[in-house]
Amino acid sequence: MRVYEKRLDIEAYVADLQKQKKSIGFVPTMGALHQGHLALIQKALIENQTVIVSIFVNPTQFNNTEDLINYPRTLETDVMLLSNVSKDIIVFAPTPQEVYGSDTIAIKYDFEGLEHAMEGKFRPGHFDGVGTVLKHLFTITQPTNAYFGEKDFQQLQIVRKLVAIEKMPVNIIGCPIYREESGLALSSRNKRLNHDQMAAAPLIYQTLKQVQNDFGTKSAEDLNEWVARQFENNELLDLEYFEIANIADLKPVQQKQQNTKYRAFIAVFAGEVRLIDNIALN
Ligand code: PAF
Repeated sequence: MRVYEKRLDIEAYVADLQKQKKSIGFVPTMGALHQGHLALIQKALIENQTVIVSIFVNPTQFNNTEDLINYPRTLETDVMLLSNVSKDIIVFAPTPQEVYGSDTIAIKYDFEGLEHAMEGKFRPGHFDGVGTVLKHLFTITQPTNAYFGEKDFQQLQIVRKLVAIEKMPVNIIGCPIYREESGLALSSRNKRLNHDQMAAAPLIYQTLKQVQNDFGTKSAEDLNEWVARQFENNELLDLEYFEIANIADLKPVQQKQQNTKYRAFIAVFAGEVRLIDNIALN
C-alpha cells in the first residue's frame, strides 16, 4: 500500500493519474478511523478508479488547544485498517508544513452565514480552518469526487459553498451517518468516552429520534424546551446547543414553512468530550 508523506510525491502521482484520465475519489480524514470512515471509503472505491485517503489532524480547525492535543493519533493502526479494505488505497499522511508551507494559518472565508450558525458559534474560526485545509488538500489530490459524512452536516454544506467560492471542479458527496447499535453516531472522539459516558451517550440519538417523531405535531419552541429538559439533571451529559434549522441556510426555524427541509442539530459534552449529531426531520 502506498503511503505518501510529501506533497511533491503525491502531486507527481496524481499528475500521472490525470494523464491516464483516471477518476480520483478523495476521503479526507483526521485519522482514528472507524466504520463510518470505512463506509465513505467503500463508496469511494465503488465510484472511482483510484481512492486517496488523507490522514491529517488539521491544527487550524481546533479552537481549543486541549482538544487538538488530545485528538487521537493512530496512524499505524489506520494504515493497517485501510490495507485490509484494499491495498489499492493511496494514503496521504503529511505534516502541517507539507500542507501549509511555513505558515500554518487559516484563510478568512465568507460562507454566506453558514459559518456563524451552531458549530461556528461555539467553535470560532473552526470553519475557516476546515475550508483552508480542504482547499489545500483538494489542490494536492485533484479529486473527481470527495466524500463527507452527514454527521458533520454543517461542514458538508460549507464544503459545498467552499468549492463554489474557490471554483474547484470536485463533486461533493454526502453520506449517511454511521451509528453504533445503541444509536450513538460514530466519531473518533468516542474513543475518549469512559464506560459510564458511553452508556449515557445514546440519549443524544434517542432525543433526536423523539424530535423527529414529534416534529409534525409540535412547535420548534416546544421541542427546544423538551430537549433542554432531557439533559437538565443529567450528571454525565451537558447540552451545549440544540437547534432545528433549515438545511439550505442553517438558520433556526421560527415558523415551519412548507417545501422547506429541516434538520435537528445537537452538541453535547460528555466530560471533556464533545459529541455532535443531527437528524433529518421531514
Ligand atoms: O471531518 C473531518 O474529519 C475534518 O473536518 C476534515 C474534513 C478531514 C478536515 O480536516
